[in-house]
Amino acid sequence: MIQGQSYITEEKARGLTAIFKQQLSVFSVKVPWQAVYLHIDMHAGCGWNHDVGVIGSPVLFAEIATEMNVPFFMVAVEKNKSLAHQLEYALSPYRANVTVIAKDNADVCDELPGIVARRYKRPDSVVGSVLIDPNTPHSIKSGLPWGQFANVFQQFKRMDALFNFPGTSMKRIKHYDAEYVCIADVPRLLNKPHWMIRKPMGSQQFTMLVGRQCELKECKNIDLVNWNSEVGMEYRKLAELTTKRYQEWRMEQRGIVQGELF
Ligand SMILES: C[S@@+](CC[C@H](N)C(=O)[O-])C[C@H]1O[C@@H](n2cnc3c(N)ncnc32)[C@H](O)[C@@H]1O
Repeated sequence: MIQGQSYITEEKARGLTAIFKQQLSVFSVKVPWQAVYLHIDMHAGCGWNHDVGVIGSPVLFAEIATEMNVPFFMVAVEKNKSLAHQLEYALSPYRANVTVIAKDNADVCDELPGIVARRYKRPDSVVGSVLIDPNTPHSIKSGLPWGQFANVFQQFKRMDALFNFPGTSMKRIKHYDAEYVCIADVPRLLNKPHWMIRKPMGSQQFTMLVGRQCELKECKNIDLVNWNSEVGMEYRKLAELTTKRYQEWRMEQRGIVQGELF
């Protein structure tokens, strides 16, 4: 961990800390010694979120992996060249394990097989995660290269999808924006078979969606549950509906349950 820097609160880090730790713990337990975790951050930023005064996702990941003693290689993608430059500086303590790419993530998806092949002897069996953290809901549909992301998961089957769904912002645009992407669309668009969902966090209701190749046990200590479980359904509704509609939905659910009972 960088000297003098304490871990930011969970809410401020939008749950990334808990998810990164969980990913790296599973990796440490399940993957043979000497394997190197591959983390790809498709919306890397500059290493520091100035708006809210918290550490950015790539630096957070590097700190956690280092603290947990997990060998890693990170590809951090940021299309804004000035931000990418700042990020390189922020990641300089981890230089040997990091590549910062100042390009559009759609282009990087096409280049990934080459990048991974240069680092790994068996690229098709590489294990890790791809973080998708778009903060502009207006560009989620047209601005995200869904097809290219899906291709990445098709080629690297053991890479998990970590999608940070901006719940509150998406609710705001739902009724007037043709670009609206429903939370339920994400598994199909990214083409991963097994999904988990984490409880929406804070006022922005950032909701982490985790797509995997095989089903893992729920992690109730970090509120990460199966997509199709009762709680998973509740989290989806919480992230997607306005407070009023969510309460109505809850009432409807109770009505159905009572209707079945009597
Ligand atoms: C929500 S911010 C990222 C925050 C970062 N994950 C963090 O936690 O600090 C989104 C970032 O993605 C970048 N971005 C947006 N579209 C992109 C694209 N198509 N390719 C690469 N970077 C992109 C933006 O410039 C912005 O810095």
